[in-house]
Amino acid sequence: METLKLGFIGAGFIAKFQVLAMTQVNNTELVGVYSKEGSGDLQKYAQKNDVGKCTVYKSIRELCNNCDAVAIYAPNYARIEIMEEIVAAVKAGAELKGIICEKPLARTVKEAQQLVDLANGVHLNTAYHENQIHMKSIHNALIQLEPVQRIMGPIALARSSEEHSGPHEPWFWDPTRQGGGVLADMGCHSIAVSWYVLTPFDKPVTFLEPVSVSCDVSLLKWGKPDFRKKLMDKMGVDYNKLPAEDFCTGIITFRNPETGQLVKGQFSNSWMYDKQGLRLLMEGLGPGYTFEINSLRSPLEVFIADEAAESVANAEAALEKATASRGLMAIQPNEADLYGYVDETRDTARAFLNNKKPLLDWKFGLEITKLVQASYMAAEQKKTIDLTDQGIQKDLMNFQSMVAQGRGGEILFS
Ligand SMILES: NC(=O)c1ccc[n+]([C@@H]2O[C@H](COP(=O)([O-])OP(=O)(O)OC[C@H]3O[C@@H](n4cnc5c(N)ncnc54)[C@H](O)[C@@H]3O)[C@@H](O)[C@H]2O)c1
Repeated sequence: METLKLGFIGAGFIAKFQVLAMTQVNNTELVGVYSKEGSGDLQKYAQKNDVGKCTVYKSIRELCNNCDAVAIYAPNYARIEIMEEIVAAVKAGAELKGIICEKPLARTVKEAQQLVDLANGVHLNTAYHENQIHMKSIHNALIQLEPVQRIMGPIALARSSEEHSGPHEPWFWDPTRQGGGVLADMGCHSIAVSWYVLTPFDKPVTFLEPVSVSCDVSLLKWGKPDFRKKLMDKMGVDYNKLPAEDFCTGIITFRNPETGQLVKGQFSNSWMYDKQGLRLLMEGLGPGYTFEINSLRSPLEVFIADEAAESVANAEAALEKATASRGLMAIQPNEADLYGYVDETRDTARAFLNNKKPLLDWKFGLEITKLVQASYMAAEQKKTIDLTDQGIQKDLMNFQSMVAQGRGGEILFS
């Protein structure tokens, strides 16, 4: 079997999750990594998990010369400079079959368009890694409901939410580096999932046309004085000066261009969800049927009493962003599979090895960036944004949210 030789750029949280996914995909190999920090750790982790030698390279060009495809697993603010280096490597002779970028594709529509143009300029196949669309539970819900949808009509309301108690690294909290708050960071997941779930099963992922968006962004927990101090002490980020939203919710209306039917995707995200850990909640509601996914439900339960708890404090072994290490715990035995990383990697490998498009490419990432930015626009203007208005589409090209500009206080504290 032909193997896709992958090179990672970045060696942090998501790179490690992707290593776990690769242990479950038999035609991928991690041949190398280039990262500002953490390369040695990732190399050891990759070797321990038997996904490849993972040679540490000192430059992006060297990495590109030694793999089939590179994956950008570095912070959002480094996308353009990294992509420019990849393009330079390709122009200098690196033979890449494709390039992967983690969500979000970019911090603004302009940056996203720039990334798409850079990839097109050297004819690179692209994969946009939005893992949640690849979740087996989403796939199975849609397969199960296919015959029902044929007779009763499509899903008319999709609800999607991702929540946890807050990101693990300071740059995520800093809106000027990350590109916003929880809407930019996790709204992009939930918007993409809702759009996908609403799409009729035999149609492409951008078949439904976005018509309008309304949204609210708020700072409900991390703006309070005691939590601002905690954030400053733990992450060195000052939410007095540079706040970002820790809660967002919105509704996007989509139109089926063949039938004219309007359907709705509701998203809701927060960094103030203090339960056992990360929770994904997804629902699809159609005439006479429903599906519901809750990632905190597991057939596995573990109980740890107070007297035993001290030994495992802060282990984060149960769940991504786990906040508790005692009591009745929610445990997910295979998070890389549950959240869709495994099937996403499988889809990318199949596509790149066969010179085909993956399910999600960077053009899809660009469309998601537009919807996220339109949501910020709606929240700032406190009105529903008409996405069919060409003037608004033009404005979005140069739009940077107030939160991302470092002016979040003007809307979050008023
Ligand atoms: N799909 C998901 O659910 C999910 C989860 C977490 C993160 N992500 C995305 O993955 C990306 C990385 O997030 P993370 O949590 O791994 O961050 P992280 O801070 O844990 O790791 C980032 C890594 O990139 C390296 N790095 C920083 N600047 C670099 C540069 N200019 N060139 C090369 N390497 C550089 C750092 O040294 C670090 O190893 C982000 O875009 C984030 O949105 C996605």
